Amino acid sequence: MIYAEVMLHIEMLMDTGELIPGKKLPSIRSLAKRLDCSVNTIIKAYSELEKKHKIYSVSKSGYYVVEQVPSRHSGAANTGAIDFLSAGPDKKAMPYRDYQHCINQAIEVYKEEMFTYSEIQGLPSLRVELARHLRELQVFTVPERVCVVSGSQQAIHLLISLPFPNNKKNICVEQPTHLSMIESIKCQQATAYGIEITANGLDMDRLEHLFKWNDIKFFYTVTRYHNPTGYSYSNKERRKIVELAQKYDVYIIEDDYLGDLDPDMQQDPMFAYDPSGRVIYIKSFSKVMLPGLRLGLAVIPDFIRDSFLSAKFASDLHTPVLTQGALEIYLKSGMFKAHIQRMRSIYTRKAALLQKAYQELLPPSAAYSGSLSGFYSTIRLPNPLKAKTFIEHLKQGNVHVDDARKMYLPDFVQDSVIRLSVSQVEEAYIESGVQTIARVMKELINTTLQVKFI
Ligand SMILES: Cc1ncc(COP(=O)(O)O)c(C=O)c1O
Repeated sequence: MIYAEVMLHIEMLMDTGELIPGKKLPSIRSLAKRLDCSVNTIIKAYSELEKKHKIYSVSKSGYYVVEQVPSRHSGAANTGAIDFLSAGPDKKAMPYRDYQHCINQAIEVYKEEMFTYSEIQGLPSLRVELARHLRELQVFTVPERVCVVSGSQQAIHLLISLPFPNNKKNICVEQPTHLSMIESIKCQQATAYGIEITANGLDMDRLEHLFKWNDIKFFYTVTRYHNPTGYSYSNKERRKIVELAQKYDVYIIEDDYLGDLDPDMQQDPMFAYDPSGRVIYIKSFSKVMLPGLRLGLAVIPDFIRDSFLSAKFASDLHTPVLTQGALEIYLKSGMFKAHIQRMRSIYTRKAALLQKAYQELLPPSAAYSGSLSGFYSTIRLPNPLKAKTFIEHLKQGNVHVDDARKMYLPDFVQDSVIRLSVSQVEEAYIESGVQTIARVMKELINTTLQVKFI
C-alpha cells in the first residue's frame, strides 16, 4: 500500500462517519501493522493529511481528526455575476499554500515574541528585508527609517493628525481620491483642498496656486495607478510636483500602493527626486498579497519619527508579529519576487483586455480613463445618466460597479462617474461585462430621450 492509498482510506472513514471530529487516529505502528505497510508510509500519509488540515497532532499523544470549520463561502451559489466592484486581489492568483507555509514558519520563529508586545516600528529583521525590497522600487533608504504599519491606510490616517515642521495646517488631495482617504479627512475634520486629476494629469498652475496660498502641510498623491482613475504620472510630472513642493515648503505623501505591479522599471517614485524627507513614501501589501493581512510600510523622515511612532503606539502598539514574520519569510525566501512577476503579467493582461473592450464597445459619449493597472479605472457616463440609477439597472444585468461619488470632497462631487476594478473579474468575462455596461447605457439614453420627447 502506498501513502496516497492510506490517505484515501482514512478520508473515506471520515466521510462515512467512522472517524468523527476529535477522534484519535490509530497509532502509526498499529495502523502500519493493520494495513500491512511500512511505518514510513503511515508517517507520510499522516503528515500529508495534516498539511491538508484534516488531522492534527498532539505531542506525546497522537493524531486527531480536525473539526471542520465550514468555509464562509462554500455554500454560496455561483450567481454568475460579473464583479467590477470588489477591489481585492485576483483570488485565483493568490499562492495560499506559500502564505500558509510562511505563517506556519512565522509561528515557530516568533513564538517567544508573541508572548509579549513587540517593537512599535516593526520587526527589525523585517525592516531590513523591506529596505532591500524598496531598492527594486528605486526607493533607497535604511531600515531605521522604515516603519511597518497595519495597512498603508494607518500611515495616511496618522500623518493627517501630526504637525509638520512647516507649521502649516491644510492638506491637498487629488480629486477624486480613494474612499478611505476621504473618510480619514472627514473623521479628523481636516481642511482639504482638492485638485482635479484628469486624463491629462494635474493642472500644475492650479497646484502651484494651492501650494502658494492655501497653507498646505502636505500634498497626498497616488502616483501610480491612481485609485479610482488609474492615472500614472510621468517622471516629468513627478519631478515638477516635487519642485513645487520644495519651492513652497510643502511635504508630499507619496502613496505607491501598487508600485510592485508596474513592469516599467524606468518609472521613478517621487521619493527618488527628494529623499531628504520632503517626500514620505508609503506602500501597501494589500493588493499584491492580501488586504486581510493588514500590512504596509512608511519611510518616515527623522523630523517626524518620534511623533509618528507615538501615534502608532497610541493607535495599536504595533502591527501583529505573526503577519510581519510571515512577510519577512516570504520576502527572504524569494517567493515574493516570483509572485510579483506572475501578478504583473496577470494584471497587465486584464488591464489590456479592459481597455480594448472600452475602446470597442462603449459609445463615444462615454469617457473612460486609460488605466494599465489591472485594478481601477473610471467611466464618465454620457449625459444625462447618473451613476446611482445606472448602477441599479446594471445590477439587473448581473454586472456590479462602484459609484465614485463617495470618492470626492464635497465641493468636487460628480454624480455621473463609475469606478471599475478588473482585478477579480476573470479574463473571459471582461468583454461581456463591458458589453452589458454599453447596452445598459444605450437603453437608458434611449429611455431618457423618449421621456423628454413625450
Ligand atoms: C490608493 C490607496 N491607498 C491606500 C489604500 C489602503 O491600503 P491598505 O490596505 O494597505 O491600508 C488603498 C486601498 O484600496 C488605496 O486604494
